[in-house]
Amino acid sequence: MEHNVRQTKHSTSRRSFLRKGLVVGGAGAIGAGLLANGLPLPAFAEEGRASLTRGDVAILRFLAAAEILESDLWQQYNELGGIQDSEVPGGSGSAAYIKALEVLDEDMPQYIHDNTEDEFSHFTFINAYLVFKGADPVNLDKFRTLPSSKARGAQNIGRLTNLMQLSVDTSYWTRYRSRTQNPDLGGTFAQAIPGLSKGQFPAIPRNDGDLAPANHIQAIANTAGFHFGYIEQGGSSLYPTLAQGVSNLEVLRILLSIGPTETAHFQTWQDKAGNAPALTDPTNGLVFPDLNASGGEDTQTNLIMPEPTVFLSRKFPAVSIIRPTEIAGSGGAVATIKSFTADGLFIGQSKEFFAVLNQLAEQADAARRGL
Ligand SMILES: [Fe+2]
Repeated sequence: MEHNVRQTKHSTSRRSFLRKGLVVGGAGAIGAGLLANGLPLPAFAEEGRASLTRGDVAILRFLAAAEILESDLWQQYNELGGIQDSEVPGGSGSAAYIKALEVLDEDMPQYIHDNTEDEFSHFTFINAYLVFKGADPVNLDKFRTLPSSKARGAQNIGRLTNLMQLSVDTSYWTRYRSRTQNPDLGGTFAQAIPGLSKGQFPAIPRNDGDLAPANHIQAIANTAGFHFGYIEQGGSSLYPTLAQGVSNLEVLRILLSIGPTETAHFQTWQDKAGNAPALTDPTNGLVFPDLNASGGEDTQTNLIMPEPTVFLSRKFPAVSIIRPTEIAGSGGAVATIKSFTADGLFIGQSKEFFAVLNQLAEQADAARRGL
């Protein structure tokens, strides 16, 4: 009975939340900015009565943090390589970088813009929902301390993430093409671009000196192309992994509705990265090989839909799935932060930044249904 009563109250609150939410949603990225500064949020605060479990709050708070980090890195890509407009303001573009990105697909600036806008909408929504439920939203603004690119086109503001010293793990490429291995069943996967995982490489021009020679700026665009896929496959695993710890049906709906948009991004980026031209960067020796040269499926560029593979147990038939999804496995919150750290995204960040993120991640991974 008590449960029913709570549901009724909840429905009422939810309706008015949706009504007000539409107003905020219509403001797009500008609304997002205001929300990040905490201005319109109090309007929701008094309505958030139906309580969530501690685990649900922990999952939503970690996802808000992850989406803020994603927004920060996508914003940097959009300023130099995307479309700067009222939906995603900031920056004025770098013509040579955009030209190199367009070698992968002429629509790259539009896709970069749209991915950026999506991430802003994700954290803005999740934070607004947390406030509606009486929980604390996530704000990482005090950690916006990393330098911007000095290339013309970028804003000169503090950043949360570093796109200029990346070591991109491209094993997602072979992981989604394997028919016999799954990371949740102990599978290991070769790097598609071995050189990218070893050194530290920029995925945006660090300054205008990076705009030439041609194979150098193309290598930077290629790095971005593979990094886009890396980031979004991470989100594709994170949501279904954490969803298994959710208790409240509406929170589950949020995860099941946002998560697949990460996969839509991943699918697009996988396709575009396959168009990255084979080359060697003359400034640092970074090699982008011809992924179709071996004739093997593990690197074949047009295998952009997940190949069926083993799932749960090898006794079942192979199935096309997102991988990994084992709770608190290699797709969980702690694993995501570990992977982003190894990626170089947080080079230059403070100890306090890592402490805050790791605490959010550990609490999210600890969430269990009904607790
Ligand atoms: Fe997202």
